[in-house]
Amino acid sequence: MSKVALVTGGSRGLGKNMAEALADKGLDVIITYKSNQEEADKVVALLESKGHKAAAMALDTAVSGSFEEFVTNLQSVLDTVFQTNHIDYLVNNAGIGIHASFAETTEEQFDTLMNIHFKGAFFLTQKLLPVLNDGGGIVNISTGLARFSSPGYAAYAAMKGAMETLTKYQAKELGARKIRVNIVAPGAIETDFGGGVVRDNNEMNAFLASQTALGRVGLPDDIGTVVAFLCSEDAKWVTAQRIEVSGGMFI
Ligand SMILES: NC(=O)c1ccc[n+]([C@@H]2O[C@H](COP(=O)([O-])OP(=O)(O)OC[C@H]3O[C@@H](n4cnc5c(N)ncnc54)[C@H](OP(=O)(O)O)[C@@H]3O)[C@@H](O)[C@H]2O)c1
Repeated sequence: MSKVALVTGGSRGLGKNMAEALADKGLDVIITYKSNQEEADKVVALLESKGHKAAAMALDTAVSGSFEEFVTNLQSVLDTVFQTNHIDYLVNNAGIGIHASFAETTEEQFDTLMNIHFKGAFFLTQKLLPVLNDGGGIVNISTGLARFSSPGYAAYAAMKGAMETLTKYQAKELGARKIRVNIVAPGAIETDFGGGVVRDNNEMNAFLASQTALGRVGLPDDIGTVVAFLCSEDAKWVTAQRIEVSGGMFI
């Protein structure tokens, strides 16, 4: 029976590529989306066309009060679509970018980023623990910005830094259940993220490429295969690790 991965924010960008790469490794995949059901349904069709079971579920990771209901709905989807009652892997990918200097970040922006990038990922994972198979894994998603600093990302990067610390604690505590927990830190990638600035602003794109050892910015396809590796037996002895996937950005 195929293993099942749940990828939050799998309707576009990196999450979509992760879902595809997981399917290419033989996994069945559930993606979540916030509002763009049409795009999510297209991803489901794509995964099914690769011969895998797939489903899309709505989830706002900023609203921790909705997670219990989400888990109940997930159990029913697992039963009806996947004929199982557990997932094997969880990828905490959903996220947004807000560009604001430290001096100008508002409490509202801070709370939005915290709710999505830290509190949401913290409590969603906690609520999913009973549904996550022993011997499975969790992949959290950070950013290169937690290692180097680039003006305008103080709050965003700090939340990702919190996730990097949390990853080590989760790995330590969940190791008893043979659950591996790692965190992938992408560099700048061409997606809709942050208004699509890395993809659509030519000057920014060229500058970031010039600061990257491999001489270009990242593409979604650079990330999914690394996440899929972590969600496989090939990575059976890898836990508590931060893996930066940035082409050597700002080194
Ligand atoms: N792109 C980069 O340069 C970059 C670099 C480092 C790290 N990252 C991280 O990689 C992850 C994915 O980014 P991306 O570039 O793929 O972004 P993206 O292309 O903008 O896609 C964001 C995804 O997250 C979902 N989402 C947004 N807000 C959500 C919420 N409140 N609750 C649940 N789902 C939500 C979106 O769903 P809808 O389609 O329904 O809106 C979509 O599926 C994020 O955690 C981001 O911080 C990105």
